[in-house]
Amino acid sequence: MKTRQIKPAALTMMAVMMLAIILSGCGGKADSTDIVIVGGGGAGMSAAIEAHQSGAKVVLLEKMPMLGGNTARAEGGLNAAGTQYQQAQGIEDSPELHFEDTMKGGKNVNNPELVKVLTENAAASIQFLKENGAELAEVGKAGGSSVPRIHRPKGGEAAGNFIVMALKKKLDELNVDVRLQHNVTEIVTDKDGNVTGVKGTDKDGKAFEIQAKAVILASGGFGANLDMVVENNPDLKGFATTNAPGAQGDGIKLASAVGAKLVDMKEIQIHPTTIPGEGVLITEGVRGDGAILVNQEGARFTNELLTRDVVSKNILAQTDKIAYLIFNDELRGTLKATDTYFEMGLVQDGQTLAELAGKIGVDAAVLEQTVTRYSEFKESGIDEDFQRDDMRLDFSKGSYYAIKITPGIHHTMGGVVINTEAQVLDESGAAIPNLFAAGEVTGGVHGANRLGGNALADITTFGRIAAQEAVKSLK
Ligand code: FUM
Repeated sequence: MKTRQIKPAALTMMAVMMLAIILSGCGGKADSTDIVIVGGGGAGMSAAIEAHQSGAKVVLLEKMPMLGGNTARAEGGLNAAGTQYQQAQGIEDSPELHFEDTMKGGKNVNNPELVKVLTENAAASIQFLKENGAELAEVGKAGGSSVPRIHRPKGGEAAGNFIVMALKKKLDELNVDVRLQHNVTEIVTDKDGNVTGVKGTDKDGKAFEIQAKAVILASGGFGANLDMVVENNPDLKGFATTNAPGAQGDGIKLASAVGAKLVDMKEIQIHPTTIPGEGVLITEGVRGDGAILVNQEGARFTNELLTRDVVSKNILAQTDKIAYLIFNDELRGTLKATDTYFEMGLVQDGQTLAELAGKIGVDAAVLEQTVTRYSEFKESGIDEDFQRDDMRLDFSKGSYYAIKITPGIHHTMGGVVINTEAQVLDESGAAIPNLFAAGEVTGGVHGANRLGGNALADITTFGRIAAQEAVKSLK
């Protein structure tokens, strides 16, 4: 019988093939790239586009089945000073004024160097978004901003999802390597502490490892991790959250494991207007475009345009810790974001204020008096009760609407410490080599209270900066 001889070269080839089969079978496929970005919300997507357009090879990893993260839930808009859109409306603003408002809103707990970078570069972020398919051409007013500064899509569509859809389209066009359902469980370092890549598991639970020259953490905050919220701020036990389910604080834990310093972890923002028990966000744009807040007794109790911490505190002091946003068809026409609230059945309506009052169990005469008095303030330009400085809604015509709200967990201001180059710092203040971070995973930008509109400004601005600096580091 003739025996078949296997040649040495064929043996080597078989060994290589078997090794490949074994490796792929246990999920051990090693991969390498220039930059790995962890997290596919607005910060990660901005970073991926910027890095790719600067010539780097990028892999974007997102643990959820879709891109977007908390950005997809952001409704209001993006704060930027000195844009062409403000100029077209005759709004005088400057990065310096944006800086002052942000520091004051954050109770000066913010890192001023990061705030300077944010406010000086936010207008360029508006341009970046425009160039990448998300033009924010309308300017509105948000709490704590001295002038109209919050940029949103024309017609008042919710800004976050608008941005996510545009950036996703751009990533597809650019053919960026985006991997969904890839959960990063470890940042890999060499013996000298240089970050060299990440490890994790994919949707089938298979392990993966990607070697990279730089890693950008853009994995968001921990607003959906209610245990972590309460651990850091026990006063928030029992509050619902507006956050996307992926906001579990993973990036903060990953960075801590390689020595990153954390800051401001107890600073957790509650947003004044969320649906009781559900945490559905009712955008600040509703107040910005003119709605008033009344309590169960039908009376106003606050300047609706104060910062979120103050308005939330004032709502929590009312009967049952709730209030009603009151507005009319005029506002519905300016703010397309409200369409969703009607579709979700969150809005009560009435042809008259008395009819509306009946539906929400408020004394009709008191509600009518409240609105009449407010209309007189609007006419004179002076809010004698609460000093609201922007009263743009004319309540003389219906239909009238009410949304019942209470404060809910919204933004975690604390996170990993970064410097102005978006490098992650360790306990001694030194940069952890090859590790960058942007967005809600970081701390220091917003201090003790974030202004509405500064989250989208933060993620796009520091997302781009993290990418630019990571690309520089490749050289
Ligand atoms: O109220 C909002 O639309 C939320 C915006 C933000 O958190 O920036």
